[in-house]
Amino acid sequence: VRAHFTPKRLLGQRVLITAGPTSEAIDPVRVVTNLSSGRMGYALALEAARAGACVTLVSGPTALPCPYGVERVDVRSAAEMHAQVMTRCAGSDLFIAVAAVADYRPVAPSAQKIKKSADTLSIDMVRNPDILAAVASRPDAPFCVGFAAESHDLDAYAQGKRVAKKLPLVVGNLVSDGLGSDDNQVVLYDDHGRHPLPRAAKTEVARAILEHVSRLMKEA
Ligand code: CTP
Ligand code: CA
Repeated sequence: VRAHFTPKRLLGQRVLITAGPTSEAIDPVRVVTNLSSGRMGYALALEAARAGACVTLVSGPTALPCPYGVERVDVRSAAEMHAQVMTRCAGSDLFIAVAAVADYRPVAPSAQKIKKSADTLSIDMVRNPDILAAVASRPDAPFCVGFAAESHDLDAYAQGKRVAKKLPLVVGNLVSDGLGSDDNQVVLYDDHGRHPLPRAAKTEVARAILEHVSRLMKEA
């Protein structure tokens, strides 16, 4: 099997990854969510485990099986994901935030199914905590990697997120290049600049990202 040929670049490293969408309740049968298959985050978890890391994957609802050798923690909402990540990040060497976290949640989910009546419906929403920013701003922060999936102006938004959240590395892609697809085309943004990777299967892209990360972690 290929595992024998994966260089153990992350041997003994504790890696925490978020993946998939989050799901925010409106009522017992309705949610607000984001489009995310979870495949990029799951590919990173599998490849990090193959590279010798001890991997915990905090995952929103996806249709994917748990990657071999990875510990998965299932969550639904951004608040649950935030809580599970904050209890685990202190012991981590590397945090990779791949999850498509809902930026807002309904202020007051209804305990009962909402019945239709008027022609329009408004739902009050409140901001969710930014999980990646919370981890990156800790005094004992692990090496933090963010993702930025944008519909336009990728360079400016990805670099903006890297600076705003104080991240050594952001992985950017255009939603048209990766969302829901088996392959992905990404650009890595770090202190040295901009590094486009060739379009490839998400497992190949995951391996290339981890190779770049392990190099940056050695520099740090
Ligand atoms: N992220 C997070 N928690 C949130 C929102 C985002 O951990 N509440 C993480 C994502 O997992 C990703 C990075 O932050 O690694 C960027 O997410 P993105 O949605 O692209 O950026 P935002 O900062 O939420 O800005 P916006 O949605 O306005 O573009
Ligand atoms: Ca967002």
